[in-house]
Amino acid sequence: MKISIIGSGHVGLISGVCFAEKGHEVLCVDHDNEKLAKLRNAEVPFFEPGLPELLKKHHTAKRLRFSDSTAEAVKFGQAIFICVGTPSTERGKADMTYVEKVARDIAETLTDYRLIVEKSTVPIMTGERVKAAIQRYVRAEVHFDVASNPEFLREGSAIEDTLKPDRIVIGVDSGKAETLLREVYAGYECPFVVTSIGSAELIKHASNSFLALKISFINWVSRLCERTGADVNEVAKGMGLDHRIGPHFLHAGIGYGGSCFPKDVEALAHISEDLGIDASPIRMISTLNKGQADRFHDRLEKELWVLKDKTLAIWGLAFKPNTDDIREAPALSLVQRLIKDGAKLRVHDPVAMPAVRKQHPDLYYAKDPLDATSGADALLVCTEWPVYREADLAKVKANLRVPIIFDGRNCLDRKRAGDLGLTLIGVGKPDVRPKK
Ligand code: UGA
Repeated sequence: MKISIIGSGHVGLISGVCFAEKGHEVLCVDHDNEKLAKLRNAEVPFFEPGLPELLKKHHTAKRLRFSDSTAEAVKFGQAIFICVGTPSTERGKADMTYVEKVARDIAETLTDYRLIVEKSTVPIMTGERVKAAIQRYVRAEVHFDVASNPEFLREGSAIEDTLKPDRIVIGVDSGKAETLLREVYAGYECPFVVTSIGSAELIKHASNSFLALKISFINWVSRLCERTGADVNEVAKGMGLDHRIGPHFLHAGIGYGGSCFPKDVEALAHISEDLGIDASPIRMISTLNKGQADRFHDRLEKELWVLKDKTLAIWGLAFKPNTDDIREAPALSLVQRLIKDGAKLRVHDPVAMPAVRKQHPDLYYAKDPLDATSGADALLVCTEWPVYREADLAKVKANLRVPIIFDGRNCLDRKRAGDLGLTLIGVGKPDVRPKK
């Protein structure tokens, strides 16, 4: 099938590449000419494992092409997926400017039946609005359908998530739209959930907020653990073995970040308030999340006393491992706070340093994790990259001026740290301290 994708960011590009992998012919559109120049050369514009190989493969096979023209996309694809960004407005609402613009642009050149599918994360009722916008601007007497097909991929495992999803959700209001989307997803082996457009839109928002809730809940439990001497990992394991709860998204830490959870939780709160529904349960998710970062900073102050002029090593800047994305990264807000405190920072991340350097050119960007620890008064672990889990703690201890580690992701080997006489302060766990 011929598929057009408008917006070649994380969702659009990955979807395009994966549709090509499933045998479709794909045209991806973007208005960023720098990005397009890279993509036309089969170069990836962001870090995502597995993406360079698939991009090259389908670029060479000519199953995947790139353009800056929405008109070309409308002409090319039987199904047109809208994958443009929906950033937060200052008030935390989803900004629908790009979606509305794409709807108008599609309408301007629509001459034959097309299925227009919203894949961007959008507030409930956007489908209706997209339909109304197209109807208002369309020039000819043309039949079209609008559908919702929310995306559930995670950065860092986006290819795997897209090729082997847990489920595919489509929200449709016509048989033709359902038939076309069944054709798009013919090669996938997973439950295929057909709903109304509004339900599909809400499934996406509710899923992200529920996952964020799980994280905030376990982070709240971690506070109880810190007061009582319990271990949050043991609690999470015991809880997660109950099939009704499940083991995922129960890792306590310094909070969630990224371009999705913070924005989507806020947006759902706004949606519910606009509908006259009390948003306090949803607002509590973000309040707990922000509090988690504050608590980590408090622990640093409690342990190190004055932060001014202290040299601190930071491992991990991305909002999670396997991405160079620093949007809303807890590590980045901590860095900003520590700069204000007057601390001297030696930072490391396997891939996110160039992005941070653009915002903070004056930090020390370490050659490798050990280099970051050299002469530092403490080490702070903010992202659980495998390279940090596997680090040689004996060498870390030898490098640090003071052997203290704050493990904001509970990813280091506590037994080894204890054997080496390190102080290891985690989240929701008893501290590891050298025996006196
Ligand atoms: C999230 C959802 O997981 C995807 O299903 C969804 O498609 C995507 O948002 C989106 O809306 O586009 P993503 O933000 O890429 O995906 O990353 P996650 O793996 O969900 O992690 C989000 C944050 O939660 C990270 O900062 C991570 O460190 C944190 N996290 C995750 C925890 O603190 N604890 C956990 O147990 C799990």
